[in-house]
Amino acid sequence: MQISMSRFQIKGDERGSLIALEQNKNIPFTIRRVYYIYGAKPDSIRGKHAHRALEQVLICMNGSCEIELDDGVTKTTVKLDRRDEGLYIGPGLWREMRHFSEDAVLMAVASQLYDEQDYIRDYQAFLAWREAAGECAGRPMP
Ligand code: TYD
Repeated sequence: MQISMSRFQIKGDERGSLIALEQNKNIPFTIRRVYYIYGAKPDSIRGKHAHRALEQVLICMNGSCEIELDDGVTKTTVKLDRRDEGLYIGPGLWREMRHFSEDAVLMAVASQLYDEQDYIRDYQAFLAWREAAGECAGRPMP
């Protein structure tokens, strides 16, 4: 499955900590969009879609949440609860985000502008698309 976790380098000193995200360096693509989710109800489920081409890195800036990923055959769940950790999600994976803590802030760094045409929002359509598409190209986090 085209996912990988990476720890970002923390520039820390007596004043506190700083993390820099740079396109094509510690973020393995050109950054075209950043968005963030906060105030998610603890029992809410977000996502429930796949992207045909979009690549993303998810970082939980505060609190915690869980990301369930599905390539049509295998499912895996990743808990995000560190602001120095990024989860790379390659194209073609069904994702669901759940179990948000009340204070969770989930930031997504994305390779494309928002484009509804890139979304597959129906799970059966996703399975059919995966069957037809075969392996989806992703890349490792540096
Ligand atoms: P939605 O896809 O339901 O979010 P999630 O993946 O967290 O379940 O998006 C919620 C709304 O926000 C929907 O009307 C589309 C809009 N939206 C944008 O306008 N730009 C964006 O970058 C994103 C991610 C969503």
